[in-house]
Amino acid sequence: MTTQFACFGIELELFRYPSQQASNLQAWDAADEHLVKYLIDAELTATTTAILNDNFGALTCALVTQNPNSTLLVETDAKTSLLGCQQNLSHNKLAPSDIHWVNSRDTLPQNIQLVLMKLPKNLHYFGQQLARLSTVLPTGTQVLIGAKAKSINPALLASIEKNLGPASASLAWKNTRVINCISDGKQRPLAKAVSWNVDDLKLTMSNLANVFAANKLDIGARIMLDNMPKGEFNHIIDLGCGNGILGLHAKQCYPDAQIHFVDDSDMAIASAKHNWQANALETHTTNAQAQNPDGQNPAAPQAFFHWDDCLSNLPAGVEPDLVICNPPFHQGEAITDHIAWQMFVDAHKRLKKGGLLHIVGNRHLAYHVKINRIFKNCTTVASNGKFVILQATK
Ligand SMILES: C[S@@+](CC[C@H](N)C(=O)[O-])C[C@H]1O[C@@H](n2cnc3c(N)ncnc32)[C@H](O)[C@@H]1O
Repeated sequence: MTTQFACFGIELELFRYPSQQASNLQAWDAADEHLVKYLIDAELTATTTAILNDNFGALTCALVTQNPNSTLLVETDAKTSLLGCQQNLSHNKLAPSDIHWVNSRDTLPQNIQLVLMKLPKNLHYFGQQLARLSTVLPTGTQVLIGAKAKSINPALLASIEKNLGPASASLAWKNTRVINCISDGKQRPLAKAVSWNVDDLKLTMSNLANVFAANKLDIGARIMLDNMPKGEFNHIIDLGCGNGILGLHAKQCYPDAQIHFVDDSDMAIASAKHNWQANALETHTTNAQAQNPDGQNPAAPQAFFHWDDCLSNLPAGVEPDLVICNPPFHQGEAITDHIAWQMFVDAHKRLKKGGLLHIVGNRHLAYHVKINRIFKNCTTVASNGKFVILQATK
């Protein structure tokens, strides 16, 4: 793995986030390089450029290096991307004079003159991003989309045209292409959140565009819901909560508990919060231990929502007695188990003594090896052909 980004005269040292992550993946890819090459070859500059889906800040750092005085709008749904981008700017001693950070739901400004974006894995989310751009981009605004050549096909170009304006792809370079779309100035409506029911639990779930398990219950989540741990729990963390399904059911199982919902995706946190409210799960707790994360105010709320990378910024006062988790096994395009590892390590750090980690995993991922290393114990409490439910006690 290299950290040296050297591209058409721009030299940077770039790390993924967190930088000490247990993976040897690189912080940028050839599509990032292609976008930088395209900008330089075409001598494109703009006073206000929007950058979307910049995984760990390669595009942002390259643009700031080229033109430190331009205005940048950097949009990401992933907290790890936001933190990675900020970390790489600071590591490369880049101090943009005017940079605005927005998430995938914030209102976009009207003054964007050029857009650079990476094609995200989730094409439903991509369509939503384009439709959102269509609400603010004037006719003729250039939108450059970097992607692997194999991901680009006539259906993708047609969907870009439908959501924003006509699009064509460049020649291939290092197996990537840059799609050049020109905004047609027509505003598109934003797609509504997708809703579905979990009948046996009497829950209605609603997912924004970039949330895991877009329109149905994940099969890993299903086996978790059928095998919630036995016992009394007062402070629960739903780690990697997605739409919040596990935390919502935890509240049904342990009505006195306070639940902390944590996810890297801003849209996931917004969906979990919506689902908590829409399913009216707030009860008048009799739990004497209920408290705010700061340890004060006995009339504390029962749900907390954290846009975070694992548990790295959870308030110090939160000491769970149960962490439930259906960990991811990829980050963007990359298959990796380093996030699961980080989740187990963080759960071990934060659980109170005697507290329980309760997770589901694809059998072949062998999470029991990791959990045993961290907790020195691990029990299989349920399994089917594909999944296992594992438990460990601190
Ligand atoms: C397999 S999904 C599980 C979602 C939900 N709990 C369920 O069971 O349907 C994993 C979730 O972890 C989240 N995630 C990925 N990386 C993360 C990180 N570094 N910190 C927190 N959450 C993360 C993803 O956004 C995704 O919502």
